[in-house]
Amino acid sequence: MTTMDRYAVFGSPIKHSKSPIIHRLFAEQTGQILSYAAQEVSAEAFPGAVSGFFTAGGKGLNCTVPLKELAYRFAPQKTARAEFSKAVNTLALQADGSILGDNTDGCGLVTDLVHNHEVSLAGKRVLILGAGGASRGIIGPIMEQAPSQLMIANRTADKAVRLAEEFTPLGSISGCGFEALGQHQFDLILNATAASLSGQLPPLPDHLLADQGSCYDLAYGNEPTAFVRWGFAQGARLSLDGLGMLVEQAAEAFFLWRGIRPQTRLVIDLLDRERQTQ
Ligand code: ATR
Repeated sequence: MTTMDRYAVFGSPIKHSKSPIIHRLFAEQTGQILSYAAQEVSAEAFPGAVSGFFTAGGKGLNCTVPLKELAYRFAPQKTARAEFSKAVNTLALQADGSILGDNTDGCGLVTDLVHNHEVSLAGKRVLILGAGGASRGIIGPIMEQAPSQLMIANRTADKAVRLAEEFTPLGSISGCGFEALGQHQFDLILNATAASLSGQLPPLPDHLLADQGSCYDLAYGNEPTAFVRWGFAQGARLSLDGLGMLVEQAAEAFFLWRGIRPQTRLVIDLLDRERQTQ
C-alpha cells in the first residue's frame, strides 16, 4: 500500500492559516501526491509535537508564530539563510534521514517585490520598521539585492541598533528609533512590526517616503492594513500587503520538499479574489 507523503503547518493560532489551501493548489498544479494539514501547536507542546510528527513518517513542516525560534533550535542542520535569521519556518526530512531547517520568508518577500511587482531594490534606500523576528528573517535576502542603504527603525531603539550591528558584515545597515527618522527619505518602506495585527501604525513622519517610493506590509488581511492605507495616503506608487510573500515563501518551501517549483501567480490571484468576497 502506498501512503501519501505528509506535510503540516504548526503554530498558534492556526485556524485561519492559508497554508493548507496554498499547498493543496501547488500539489494539484504540479501533480504531486501529498497531504498538508494545519495543527494547533503551542510553544510548550512544540518539542513533543515535532518529534512525534517526524517519528510517524512526516516529510516536512512549516512553523509559524510563535514557533520559528524554537524550530531554529530544533533543527540539527540549517541553511545559511536560516542561520543568519536565527529563525526557521520550514523543516524538511532529507534522504539520509536528517532534518534540515530553512527560512524561506525573506526570499518570499524579495520574490514578491522584485518578480511579481517589479520593485527593484538595487541602489535603493530601504527602511524596515520593527526589529523582531520578522525583521531578522528578511535582512539577509534584502541585502543580497544590493540596496544603497538599509535602515532599521524600532519603537525600542536599542533593539534596532543591535540588530543592525549584527548584520553590518552584509553592508551599510543602521538602526534607530522612530523619532530619528525625521530627516530621512526612503524609496521602499517595509513594515515588519506587529502593529498591523492590532490595527495600529508606528508613529511615522510625513515625507518619509520618496517620490515614486513604495510601501510593503509583511502582514496581510481581508482589508488593507493600517500601514497599507498610510502608504496610499503618502502617495506611494505601490502599497502592498504580505499576501504575495505568504504564497512565495510557501512556494520556496514546496520546492525544498518536492524539488519542483510551483507557479504562484494563479494562487495569489485566487486568494486575493477570495478575500475580497469575505
Ligand atoms: P515578530 O517575531 O513577529 O517580529 P516580535 O519579535 O515580538 O514579533 O517583534 C514585534 C515587533 O513589532 C517589534 O519590533 C516591536 O517593537 P518593540 O521591539 O519596541 O517591542 C514592534 N511592535 C509591536 N507593536 C508595535 C506598535 N504598536 N507600534 C510599533 N511597533 C510595534
